[in-house]
Amino acid sequence: MGWRRLRNVPLRTGLHSVPGLACPTHRRYSGCMTTPDLHAVPRDLLGRHALVCGASAGIGRASALALAARGASITALARRADRLDSLLPELRAAGAAEARALVADLDRRADLADRVEALIEAHGPVHIVINNTGGPPGGPLLQAEPEAFSVAFGRHILAAHILARVCVPGMQASGFGRIVNVVSTSVYEPIPNLGVSNTIRGAMGGWAKSLSRELPEGVTINNVLPGFTDTERLTSLAEGRARREGSSSDQVRANWLAQVPEGRLGRPEETAAAVAFLCSPSAAYIRGVSLPVDGGRLRGI
Ligand SMILES: NC(=O)c1ccc[n+]([C@@H]2O[C@H](COP(=O)([O-])OP(=O)(O)OC[C@H]3O[C@@H](n4cnc5c(N)ncnc54)[C@H](OP(=O)(O)O)[C@@H]3O)[C@@H](O)[C@H]2O)c1
Repeated sequence: MGWRRLRNVPLRTGLHSVPGLACPTHRRYSGCMTTPDLHAVPRDLLGRHALVCGASAGIGRASALALAARGASITALARRADRLDSLLPELRAAGAAEARALVADLDRRADLADRVEALIEAHGPVHIVINNTGGPPGGPLLQAEPEAFSVAFGRHILAAHILARVCVPGMQASGFGRIVNVVSTSVYEPIPNLGVSNTIRGAMGGWAKSLSRELPEGVTINNVLPGFTDTERLTSLAEGRARREGSSSDQVRANWLAQVPEGRLGRPEETAAAVAFLCSPSAAYIRGVSLPVDGGRLRGI
């Protein structure tokens, strides 16, 4: 059988999951030139159902693909149906056991619980929730309208809380659950010109840590904190800041990069790899942490 034809064959975990070690079945790792990633990605989420929010773009999209590669069934949630429709075949090709879209706006939460309960009724428990959505707009804090805080609080905290209340009972019954929040490094260090975002990220950190102390055995919650990551959001933040400061997007980006020891923007796939790891069985004993994926930008120890 050719290496490519193995793409949808569930691989055993263990040495297959450790890049660089010889695979005991195929007797080699480094000789697998056609699909070297096959051995690098363990299929350890087969039989698990992941609800990935904000899956139509950026970090959420990359996270959905990373979980698909580990074999999870994916429900991809976002507002743009066309984007989700084009993602579904990619999820299946990446290795998702099943892939479906849930078109929903996390700013309109009146029927969110009912819709996710219907999803669970039709497709079984949600074992993994990725809380990810659009970030609040940038700008000086004093210029922010009070309403901006309630919109952001609703979209981030209330939506995550509703999903936790609906999904945790099924996680507990399954003895396996993972909640991963895509937040920001501003949980640790507020970022200039992102005052509303900084405030909401702090609240998210408090919500997640509180919940981490209450969740049952086998069910964890953790945060991933992206640094400057090359997505549509970063492009729009750079454009907004350049307009306000009378500079250019390139100049704004250069200023950002000067803060990053790695000297480049992060790729959404790099954040997604951390998300997928925290969802994996290997991360069972990691609970209530906030993991920066920021190229070393944070200065605190
Ligand atoms: N990129 C960075 O450098 C960076 C750094 C730190 C933190 N973050 C944070 O990480 C998160 C993801 O960032 P990103 O860069 O991947 O953002 P992005 O490229 O703007 O993607 C945001 C995703 O969220 C969805 N979304 C937005 N509003 C929604 C709503 N009301 N209901 C449902 N889905 C919604 C969008 O899809 P639809 O438009 O189709 O709904 C899209 O799929 C954000 O909270 C962001 O602030 C990003």
